[in-house]
Amino acid sequence: MSSVTNTPPKVLPAAGDGCWCGSGRKYKRCHKPVDGRVLPGVVSPMRSVPAHIVRPPYAETGKVKRAPESAVKSPDVIERMRVTGAMAAEVLRMAGEFVKPGITTDEIDAYVHQLCIERDAYPSPLNYSGYPKSVCTSVNEVICHGIPDSRVLEDGDIINLDVTCYFKGVHGDTNATFAVGEIDEESRHLIDVTEECMWRGIEAVVPGRPLSDIGKAIEVRAKQDKLGVVRAFIGHGIGEQFHTDIQVLHYYDPRNNMIMRPGMTFTIEPMITLGTWQHRMWDDEWTAVTADGKRTAQFEHTVLVTDSGYEVLTGGPGAASPAAPWNRNK
Ligand code: MF3
Ligand code: CO
Ligand code: CO
Repeated sequence: MSSVTNTPPKVLPAAGDGCWCGSGRKYKRCHKPVDGRVLPGVVSPMRSVPAHIVRPPYAETGKVKRAPESAVKSPDVIERMRVTGAMAAEVLRMAGEFVKPGITTDEIDAYVHQLCIERDAYPSPLNYSGYPKSVCTSVNEVICHGIPDSRVLEDGDIINLDVTCYFKGVHGDTNATFAVGEIDEESRHLIDVTEECMWRGIEAVVPGRPLSDIGKAIEVRAKQDKLGVVRAFIGHGIGEQFHTDIQVLHYYDPRNNMIMRPGMTFTIEPMITLGTWQHRMWDDEWTAVTADGKRTAQFEHTVLVTDSGYEVLTGGPGAASPAAPWNRNK
């Protein structure tokens, strides 16, 4: 079984002819591959999860039904989220170490899938709203939700791995962008500033303050370097469900005015671009790419609002902000 839809014919149209997909647009304005852009590959069959692993409700049907869930978590839920968050952090770290030129994103998926199930965790993306894989792999101009497939990683690519584990009845969601082999200076800078943007957002988590402080901090930092902030995808409440009602914008909007209260848990996951912040969707209806094809990076943590500030639930070794370069002279 292949999940690739709209497979191109063996004989392709001329650039100025109508596209094979029936869109009515010229081939060159539609499905003609553009040099240097990421192309969709072949998606392998869905992987199975051993029967003894406890699944989230959507695992069997692919349908996500939001249940009421308190924004402020009980001490018991928080304790479980610490455990699952630490696990997701470990899986992400190991998946990042696995990245190298020559492997396919499907091989990364197989590895993340195995890392989750050997920890008795369910890989949250699998069948979430029908998503076919256990991790999101977003290469170069792919903003988020890239589906692992047969594409081979090339030296000089950048790749975001977005790992979410479901364990002890709660989710832990974290992602990071990694270099494949040797990358150019501009890509390195994009990755570094994006990580810094995430930490600026996290440091704006203060009880009694509105969520909009987070987006403000991120946007200010991105603008310093004339980088774009993606608006279509946002941070979210998380806990017993993968996505709950809380919305965390990564740019400033005064309407994002919910007050942060101790016990709230949500993600902060800015997507920062070298060019436009606007996006396009692939035909798979998951893969979001920058409209101009320029590169984009993302980092994500799940955080808890505490009495005095924040606790990073998906932290692990290397996830500390105070030691970060932009804090050293404070
Ligand atoms: N982990 C993503 C997030 O940060 C969500 C992925 S949904 C999936 O919210 F279905 F694509 F897995
Ligand atoms: Co998330
Ligand atoms: Co995520």
